[in-house]
Amino acid sequence: MASVPTASQALQSQATADYVVRVEDLRVEFRTSIGVTYALNGVSLEIPRGKTLGVVGESGCGKSVTGLAILQLVPPPGVVTSGTIGFRSRESRTPVNLLEYERMGPEMRHIRGKSISMIFQEPMTSLNPVYTVGNQISEAVLLHQTGEHKEAKERAIDILRKVGMPNPERIYSNYPHELSGGMRQRAMIAMALSCTPDLLIADEPTTALDVTTEANILDLMRELQQEIGMSIMFVTHNLGVVAQMCDEVAVMYLGRVVEQASVEEIFYDPKHPYTISLLKSIPRLGTNRKEHLEVIRGSVPDPYSRVTGCPFHPRCPSFMPGICDTTMPNVVYMPDSPQHFVRCHLYNDLANHQAVPSGVSNSIGGNGQ
Ligand SMILES: Nc1ncnc2c1ncn2[C@@H]1O[C@H](COP(=O)(O)OP(=O)(O)OP(=O)(O)O)[C@@H](O)[C@H]1O
Ligand SMILES: [Mg+2]
Repeated sequence: MASVPTASQALQSQATADYVVRVEDLRVEFRTSIGVTYALNGVSLEIPRGKTLGVVGESGCGKSVTGLAILQLVPPPGVVTSGTIGFRSRESRTPVNLLEYERMGPEMRHIRGKSISMIFQEPMTSLNPVYTVGNQISEAVLLHQTGEHKEAKERAIDILRKVGMPNPERIYSNYPHELSGGMRQRAMIAMALSCTPDLLIADEPTTALDVTTEANILDLMRELQQEIGMSIMFVTHNLGVVAQMCDEVAVMYLGRVVEQASVEEIFYDPKHPYTISLLKSIPRLGTNRKEHLEVIRGSVPDPYSRVTGCPFHPRCPSFMPGICDTTMPNVVYMPDSPQHFVRCHLYNDLANHQAVPSGVSNSIGGNGQ
């Protein structure tokens, strides 16, 4: 885990922050016959180079659609209606806006095959049913690492072994439908890692796997990260895995990032009432089993409707009538930690770098309605 920077270090890092992807004001709608789903309502986030950004939030908040949008793979009837996705590859640090490329054009195909790979929530999405698993992995190796077929096969078998495949030599010749769900998941992870990408988008990569395999795969990702400086966008519901894997965390609610900060700040100094509620709703190691976990009251509003003001206000324990239900909060950067931002009216006074109003943290989680 990264250590907490001092304010001056953080200021410096903001000035020189090196990112692989910077998403700004990304909006995605699904236009179906029964109405429009507003899946992303202005997502802004930054994936630091060589580090891991965890993306968390309740089901339906737009984690997967954000990952898919980065690769221009939002399925129809989804459309990106605005925003930019700045990508800086290892070779050329000059950012390009991926949304300016044709979805299926040569630039995007090159980026998908070489620079950014994705482990999908649903493994069959990326495995081609008509080619063997080995064929698909060694193709990626051939394309990006070696031109030698024998070497590519050895590397493919090695990576299958590393993701915990039993009998990798046999699996090499299997077709995806011949594998169990967990094995397909591992084959897809092997394929995504085999092209040594700049960025790996891992969408709940280990949810379907047993804990030993999960631990091996997380180790493998970290190893590769150190070896090739790969960045990871790690989508998960498991905050234990976030604590273990991530340097930074983006918390999403209803198609927006409501807070992004270092993993330490998210766990020990969360600002947004939603982040605080989310942390209270998960079991922690070492806590008394008899302690009740809190549930976040209410449920996520349906994505067909648009809530006025802050989208979290109907469920927020710190709701301020007349403010939170009328106006959308702006992004506020914490003055003592410039990489930490939050979208919440409680912190609006901080926008001009004033001191934290006393009692803010007490009001959060209280019943201040
Ligand atoms: N193919 C689709 N057609 C219509 N709506 C969709 C489609 N895919 C996603 N959506 C909508 O977009 C929103 C965001 O979905 P997304 O899959 O990104 O959520 P998520 O945060 O990944 O959830 P989960 O944790 O359950 O995986 C949801 O409201 C969802 O219903
Ligand atoms: Mg998802």
